[in-house]
Amino acid sequence: MANMNTTFVLLLNLLYLLLITESISLDAVPSNSIAVNANVRCIEIERVALQKFRKGLKDPFNRLSSWVGQDCCNWEGIGCSNQTSNVVKLDLGSSNLCGFEGGSQYTPDQPNCLSGKLDPSLQNLKYLSYLNLSNINFQGVSFPYFLGSLKKLTYLDLSFTMFSGVVSPSLGNLINLSYLNLIPSQFSDKTLSVPNLYWLTNLSSLQYLNLQNIVLSKAETHWLQVVNMLPSLSELYLSSCGLHHLPQILPFVNFTSLSVLDLSNNGFNSSSIPPWLFNLTSLNNLRINYCDLKGPIPNIARASLCNLKNLDMSFNIFISGPITEFIQALSGCGNHRLEQLNLGSNQLSGVLPHSLGNFTHLRELHLTNNSFSGPIPSSIQHLSRLEILDLSYNLMNGTIPEFIGELIELSTLDLFSNSWEGTMTETHFLNLKK
Ligand SMILES: *[C@@H]1O[C@H](CO)[C@@H](O)[C@H](O)[C@H]1NC(C)=O
Ligand SMILES: *[C@@H]1O[C@H](CO)[C@@H](O)[C@H](O)[C@H]1NC(C)=O
Ligand SMILES: *[C@@H]1O[C@H](CO)[C@@H](O)[C@H](O)[C@H]1NC(C)=O
Ligand SMILES: *[C@@H]1O[C@H](CO)[C@@H](O)[C@H](O)[C@H]1NC(C)=O
Ligand SMILES: *[C@@H]1O[C@H](CO)[C@@H](O)[C@H](O)[C@H]1NC(C)=O
Ligand SMILES: *[C@@H]1O[C@H](CO)[C@@H](O)[C@H](O)[C@H]1NC(C)=O
Ligand SMILES: *[C@@H]1O[C@H](CO)[C@@H](O)[C@H](O)[C@H]1NC(C)=O
Ligand SMILES: *[C@@H]1O[C@H](CO)[C@@H](O)[C@H](O)[C@H]1NC(C)=O
Ligand SMILES: *[C@@H]1O[C@H](CO)[C@@H](O)[C@H](O)[C@H]1NC(C)=O
Ligand SMILES: *[C@@H]1O[C@H](CO)[C@@H](O)[C@H](O)[C@H]1NC(C)=O
Repeated sequence: MANMNTTFVLLLNLLYLLLITESISLDAVPSNSIAVNANVRCIEIERVALQKFRKGLKDPFNRLSSWVGQDCCNWEGIGCSNQTSNVVKLDLGSSNLCGFEGGSQYTPDQPNCLSGKLDPSLQNLKYLSYLNLSNINFQGVSFPYFLGSLKKLTYLDLSFTMFSGVVSPSLGNLINLSYLNLIPSQFSDKTLSVPNLYWLTNLSSLQYLNLQNIVLSKAETHWLQVVNMLPSLSELYLSSCGLHHLPQILPFVNFTSLSVLDLSNNGFNSSSIPPWLFNLTSLNNLRINYCDLKGPIPNIARASLCNLKNLDMSFNIFISGPITEFIQALSGCGNHRLEQLNLGSNQLSGVLPHSLGNFTHLRELHLTNNSFSGPIPSSIQHLSRLEILDLSYNLMNGTIPEFIGELIELSTLDLFSNSWEGTMTETHFLNLKK
């Protein structure tokens, strides 16, 4: 009897040692695994799901060659939770560079891209928090409804994946999403659309939203109201979405965290530039080029948009009127962050104000193809970082000042088609080595 007791105690000790050395703690055993092999972290049902998903893909360059064996946690692009071993990350974005390497352009018929179908087995990866399928060519199949069941997702990158049809409103279930990128491939011959955006209001943690090139024309009565309800939104890309309605009045500006707003290439039916844009105090990149906006730039408060680095308002061919007050208001900030200002191809007029010289961080100044008149203001000489100065196709006159030659970072100087007088000498160009 004593012998048996000793053996039992020994066995217990051995088991205890095993548990310690293999670092298996009981609360770390995943809920949906049956047997745990200490060397294989991967959970079987998730491995099977990944294997099915892989079977759906054509992979001629064998980019997923590491997807062999039992331990899916070691496969390329897979990340598992250290606590539960569940697959929490599936990142095929980087293993699917599709010929971007070496600077060549991606085209969908390039054979080195992953392509094929998106197997619904993926919905078994219930703990997935990061999903990046960027650039996989899903060949124009309908947008997958089941993605809305991956409720733990915080990052969803489906950029350039060639889905078609309607973006599933089931994405409204992904309430912890902070990043959503759905920009379709420019080579897709089918469209992707969102007729109703209300599901977005569920995504209160959203910081990044890219719906560029997705048809939103049926959502045009409510798109702004919906994005204005996303308090964490920092980057919003709605370029080329077929929007025609840009509300002039917004009772509350709620999305004040916005730092990037890209509304370019939407034909806003000759709306005016809405004043609420200038209440977005965190903006550092505002793109409203090719927007079919008209009329004068609204009067804005002094020191508006003090974080602005890049403003592109070009090619709104009915934007007219003087820019003096606008430039003065923008330049009223203590720190001058503006790096790129593009007001080209509008019908702006008037004399260029001295306050332009306040933007000492300016690298690009595109004022081409307007009706600006008068001389080059002497304050331009303070723009020592200027790389591009384009004043071409205006009504400017006077002499071309020699201080142009002190802007030593200039790589492009375009003064063509104005009414300059006088002569230019080598002094103008002596220091323009770039
Ligand atoms: C898991 O642990 C490894 C090693 O300690 C660490 O490098 C990795 O970042 C951890 N992963 C996560 C998701 O915490
Ligand atoms: C997804 O992968 C692509 C390609 O590597 C990368 O450029 C992109 O930043 C990734 N997306 C996210 C959200 O990390
Ligand atoms: C969302 O995140 C919160 C906080 O991290 C967490 O408590 C909650 O369970 C998450 N919801 C889902 C559906 O994953
Ligand atoms: C919003 O999320 C809840 C779960 O938190 C879900 O029941 C509801 O259907 C979602 N609404 C939309 C419009 O997606
Ligand atoms: C502004 O955001 C708050 C929560 O952040 C919300 O309660 C409120 O309804 C929003 N207002 C509008 C007009 O969207
Ligand atoms: C938009 O343009 C159409 C013609 O293309 C016109 O009939 C309509 O009144 C315009 N709407 C607004 C709000 O200006
Ligand atoms: C925008 O800011 C101005 C003052 O800077 C304020 O009078 C106006 O009410 C604000 N508009 C909105 C829509 O918040
Ligand atoms: C100049 O601006 C007009 C509109 O004001 C536009 O139609 C034209 O294409 C522009 N020209 C160039 C060369 O960009
Ligand atoms: C802006 O420029 C004007 C004229 O060049 C100057 O009088 C003013 O002090 C400058 N403002 C700031 C904030 O630097
Ligand atoms: C420049 O043009 C304006 C009219 O636009 C005129 O009043 C002024 O005298 C001209 N200046 C020079 C130096 O030709």
